[in-house]
Amino acid sequence: MATVVDIADLAIGFDNGPPVLASFTASLEARSFTAIVGPSGVGKSTLLRVIAGLLAPRQGTVSTPFEADPTRRPFALVFQEARLLPWRPILGNVLFGLEHLPLSASERRRRALEALELVGLADYAHRWPYQLSGGQRQRVNLARALAVQPALLLLDEPFSALDAITRHTLQGELLRLWQATHTTILFVTHDLDEAVYLADRVIVLGSNGQPGARIIRDFLVPLERPRDRSSVGFSDHVGQVRSALSEIMTNGAGI
Ligand SMILES: Nc1ncnc2c1ncn2[C@@H]1O[C@H](COP(=O)(O)OP(=O)(O)OP(=O)(O)O)[C@@H](O)[C@H]1O
Ligand SMILES: [Mg+2]
Repeated sequence: MATVVDIADLAIGFDNGPPVLASFTASLEARSFTAIVGPSGVGKSTLLRVIAGLLAPRQGTVSTPFEADPTRRPFALVFQEARLLPWRPILGNVLFGLEHLPLSASERRRRALEALELVGLADYAHRWPYQLSGGQRQRVNLARALAVQPALLLLDEPFSALDAITRHTLQGELLRLWQATHTTILFVTHDLDEAVYLADRVIVLGSNGQPGARIIRDFLVPLERPRDRSSVGFSDHVGQVRSALSEIMTNGAGI
């Protein structure tokens, strides 16, 4: 499989403070789904911001060896809150991310409507953000990211503010979108069940007693899809990730 993003020896810190992330190296394969878990404050969101190019690292590189296509963005970042623009209708919100791409107005509209269709909200194009439920807003957020056809879709706890039923529904939707669009995903979550349900690979970030976080474990999740949360294999994998996290916390090296 081709590598979509190569992240080499990233170190991240703020001002003259101690490092938040001491070292992070990973290659993300095309169409892979990787989850990142780790204690609160370990640097997961900061890592995504650096990968997305919103923040410069102290050291290291993020490279995208694929051929650059000006009509796509290399990265799209989805946050926990939908952050929709209240003065724009839903379609206008999805169009927003497309405005600086070299596309005709009709092509932008086509892409935005296609993304809304993908998340099941084609009929909501002319509604306003305040008329949508939390789950629907998060779908628009996803549509906005999908419309730019990113090589890597970065998701930062996108479902953590939702109730359990909506969360499960959107997890299923995300898997469907991932398969339909062939995109590559990097997904941050606190929820170990969610990580094992969604991802092929789960990276555990933590500190090993030295300043700054690093990769403590890198698990593969070779479970067949669709996954059965009540199966023994599923619980085993969740248990392994949980043990790795407990070790970090009991070593006093959690954040
Ligand atoms: N703009 C900033 N300036 C200074 N320090 C920051 C800034 N943003 C984040 N930090 C610090 O970087 C560290 C990592 O923060 P980050 O938000 O990446 O953690 P996280 O792993 O995403 O946590 P959570 O699971 O709670 O979302 C924290 O100590 C935080 O205080
Ligand atoms: Mg965070």
